[in-house]
Amino acid sequence: MQSKKLVSLGVSLLLVVILSLFWGLVVSTESVMAQTRTAQDQQQSAPQAANTCLACHNNPTVTAIFSTPHGVGSIAGSASNGRGCESCHGASGEHASTMQSPAVVFGDGGGRFTASDVEIQNRQCLSCHQTTETVHWAASAHQSADLACASCHTIHVAPQTALIERTDSGLCLSCHLEQRSQLNRRSHHPVAEGLMSCTSCHNPHGSDTVALLSKSSITDTCTSCHTEERGPFLWEHQPVTEDCTTCHNPHGSTQASLLSVRQPFLCQTCHSEAFHPSSLYNGTGIPPAGAQQNLLGTSCTNCHSVIHGSNHPSGSRLTR
Ligand code: HEC
Ligand code: HEC
Ligand code: HEC
Ligand code: HEC
Ligand code: HEC
Ligand code: HEC
Ligand code: HEC
Ligand code: HEC
Ligand code: HEC
Ligand code: HEC
Repeated sequence: MQSKKLVSLGVSLLLVVILSLFWGLVVSTESVMAQTRTAQDQQQSAPQAANTCLACHNNPTVTAIFSTPHGVGSIAGSASNGRGCESCHGASGEHASTMQSPAVVFGDGGGRFTASDVEIQNRQCLSCHQTTETVHWAASAHQSADLACASCHTIHVAPQTALIERTDSGLCLSCHLEQRSQLNRRSHHPVAEGLMSCTSCHNPHGSDTVALLSKSSITDTCTSCHTEERGPFLWEHQPVTEDCTTCHNPHGSTQASLLSVRQPFLCQTCHSEAFHPSSLYNGTGIPPAGAQQNLLGTSCTNCHSVIHGSNHPSGSRLTR
């Protein structure tokens, strides 16, 4: 009896194992088939002309695309050429006939159909826009933060610069609140004034430098405009050749000249020369008590006026 029970238990266990193996097989074959189906859809379903889609979507919010670069028929790959709407929305024949979801739905899923994965959305755009501009997109801060191309670019909209709806700095500042407040400080780069923009220094599509900078280093980014500080100088000031942001905050500062710390403290963070006290200066140097230059005006740079480097034969102390 005992052994028979054990045997039948063994048999049912075996059955369960076999069944689950079989089930696993079915499930995995199914998903493989599903994958192949989508792949086939992408490649083989007859391309739907834009007119098929416009039979239902002929409203101004959608057709605005025809006045953008994506709607110009003469451009290969644009919406009115080749695969039409499907060049972005993917093979959507079944959507047009049976109201299934379009293959690729952009945005955040606020519409009737669920939005596609951000990665799938972006792959559509990158299929045409794999350029030097976007080459560092993969693993960039914005890609890692799951930003969609369409979170910055509006596609169905009358033409504007690079299909950006707001001025691009306004776009960036809508997410980057810390920089918004820095740009309001008394010393700041003229971004809000419209003389330059975030993209004067940053490439939002990624870069091979820190902080999505568009040039190959911080210093290169700065000296692309401030050529006078680029050097090389006869007498270099080491932190200047290394990294401008050692002393400057690029976005804005409450100190003059975008300085991150007020003089003389800025200089004293590194220098403690015997005859230039590195201690705090007290009130005795305030006029009219006998002026102490380290407390006046531009402080250490009253005398060390060529702080970024000197080409004068006797400028080794950065005084001329
Ligand atoms: C038979 C009518 C019909 C046709 C043809 C049709 N659609 Fe749609 N489509 C709809 C309806 C209805 C909706 C849901 C209502 C809405 O969001 O506008 C929709 C929604 C969409 C959406 C928005 C998805 C979302 O939730 O944001 C996209 C994108 C779309 N269609 C693309 C296409 C494309 C591309 C084609 C051509 C291949 C096409 N449609 C053809 C009726 C149609
Ligand atoms: C270059 C890529 C691209 C092409 C081509 C394109 N779309 Fe879109 N479509 C998008 C993106 C991105 C969105 C999300 C909203 C936006 O950015 O404007 C969108 C949104 C939509 C929506 C939802 C709009 C809404 O506000 O509910 C519909 C419907 C739609 N597209 C239909 C079409 C049709 C029809 C065509 C062809 C005439 C077409 N699209 C061509 C990229 C594209
Ligand atoms: C089928 C190819 C194709 C696809 C897919 C595509 N584009 Fe384009 N895109 C073009 C072409 C062609 C132009 C016009 C030529 C140019 O400026 O490079 C263009 C231009 C642009 C521009 C510049 C517009 C300007 O005013 O200078 C932006 C931005 C852009 N596309 C973003 C996108 C985004 C975001 C997507 C995905 C939602 C996308 N594109 C999908 C082909 C494509
Ligand atoms: C964080 C916002 C942001 C995201 C995300 C973004 N872009 Fe852009 N894109 C911009 C801005 C801003 C410009 C204008 C750049 C300029 O003026 O120098 C631009 C310009 C472009 C241009 C035009 C380039 C040119 O040289 O004229 C293309 C094409 C483009 N983007 C494609 C894409 C694609 C594809 C993606 C997704 C992989 C994407 N963008 C994601 C902000 C963004
Ligand atoms: C939709 C929101 C959004 C928009 C719009 C946006 N960003 Fe970002 N950005 C992020 C997120 C999220 C991160 C990653 C987290 C962080 O560092 O704050 C990020 C990171 C960054 C970083 C830091 C990169 C690093 O390596 O530390 C820079 C620089 C940046 N963004 C610049 C820009 C610029 C320039 C624009 C406008 C063209 C822009 N962003 C638009 C959301 C946005
Ligand atoms: C003058 C050049 C310049 C301009 C203009 C500029 N940035 Fe920056 N940004 C930088 C530099 C340089 C860094 C790196 C700072 C560092 O590492 O200390 C940086 C860093 C950042 C970071 C990362 C901050 C962190 O703490 O990691 C963000 C986010 C950012 N910038 C957003 C913006 C936005 C948004 C704008 C437009 C409003 C903008 N920047 C305009 C030069 C600039
Ligand atoms: C796209 C060009 C451009 C780039 C890149 C640039 N700047 Fe500037 N910078 C300017 C302009 C324009 C001004 C304002 C000049 C004026 O007001 O006379 C300025 C002003 C300054 C000032 C003086 C601010 C004041 O309040 O007097 C400093 C310091 C400065 N930049 C440092 C930097 C640093 C550090 C970098 C790199 C992170 C940098 N800049 C990158 C264009 C640029
Ligand atoms: C060791 C600290 C330090 C470093 C590093 C530094 N600066 Fe400065 N910078 C200063 C000081 C201090 C001032 C203010 C000078 C004054 O008040 O007379 C200044 C002023 C400026 C100004 C305003 C115009 C002027 O000459 O008065 C610009 C522009 C500038 N720096 C650009 C740069 C650039 C670009 C770099 C990187 C190549 C850089 N700085 C690196 C300390 C530094
Ligand atoms: C991040 C550190 C750092 C900061 C901040 C800094 N310096 Fe320097 N400075 C150096 C280094 C390193 C040298 C080269 C020292 C050497 O060769 O012995 C140097 C050299 C000098 C020299 C040349 C003297 C010599 O011994 O060769 C002078 C003068 C000087 N700095 C003044 C200043 C002033 C004024 C400030 C503030 C505006 C300042 N430094 C800010 C690091 C710094
Ligand atoms: C009244 C003008 C004056 C002021 C203000 C001044 N210095 Fe000097 N500093 C000099 C002179 C002159 C020398 C050069 C002495 C020499 O050539 O031997 C010098 C030399 C230096 C040296 C090189 C020291 C060495 O041992 O070779 C450093 C570093 C320095 N100063 C930093 C500073 C700092 C930091 C401040 C602000 C706290 C400052 N200086 C303020 C005039 C000044």
